[in-house]
Amino acid sequence: MTDRYCVFGNPISHSKSPQIHAAFAAQTGEDIDYTAIEAPLNDFAGAWQRFVAQGGRGANVTVPFKEEAFRLCDTLSRRAQRAGAVNTLVLGKNGLTYGDTTDGIGLVRDLQHHGVALEGARILVLGAGGAVRGVLEPLLAMRPARVLVANRTAAKAAALAADFADLGEIHGGGFDAVVGPFDLVVNGTSASLSGELPPLPDALFAPGASAYDMMYGAELTVFLRWAETRGARGIDGLGMLVEQAAESFFLWRNKRPETGPVREMLRQWLQ
Ligand code: ATR
Repeated sequence: MTDRYCVFGNPISHSKSPQIHAAFAAQTGEDIDYTAIEAPLNDFAGAWQRFVAQGGRGANVTVPFKEEAFRLCDTLSRRAQRAGAVNTLVLGKNGLTYGDTTDGIGLVRDLQHHGVALEGARILVLGAGGAVRGVLEPLLAMRPARVLVANRTAAKAAALAADFADLGEIHGGGFDAVVGPFDLVVNGTSASLSGELPPLPDALFAPGASAYDMMYGAELTVFLRWAETRGARGIDGLGMLVEQAAESFFLWRNKRPETGPVREMLRQWLQ
């Protein structure tokens, strides 16, 4: 029987994951079936159990189920424990569910593809929600000089930074506490969704700096447009989407697909 995988979300119709994993499967010769499933808001665990009963071997998990998925896992990767959320479920041979989060490694890999140096970098991360919590461990593992987490609600950023303080030089506060220059600014807020821009000082970017938005779309986000007018190089989150998927695929199939052609395919679809 073909091994089944899926992405759970609610809503889920917009998800590109089925196309991404179909491309990975074609490329690597893996025989898998990958679909998008809208799980009921009040019964994520039931949706996973039903999927397993129908031959499900693993799943991606997106909004709003990442924390619930975390809670149902029997075992967790260290980075998932830190994140308090999982985006990848793996059904073990023993029938136990293993959870991991590949978002952060996806961000780091995409930054590396774009030639953004992380070791020794001064990094500003905007936002202090689940998206940011999920990427801090892999970012800090690259040994940046320092990471500042800035958020509209300053106390959330301070608390988040404190949770990761054993891993490196990381601090948190409000936008008014932001003092540049930074080599990399990562927007992990959902402000781009509503076309808003966090209030940031003009002198934010060091020469040659990069601005990364975890969001992507046919057009540059407000944040990236703003960053480019201030001399930074703007990069959207499409590559992160593909890289996190590739890492999930590796966890399930032990094969590493080539991400470049899949990123190009998606970019063309967006046009
Ligand atoms: P996610 O899982 O995507 O991280 P979340 O946990 O709801 O979603 O977090 C959303 C983040 O975007 C938060 O950091 C939020 O700031 P607050 O903690 O102050 O709410 C931030 N955010 C959302 N809209 C914003 C806006 N218009 N300007 C600045 N920050 C915004």
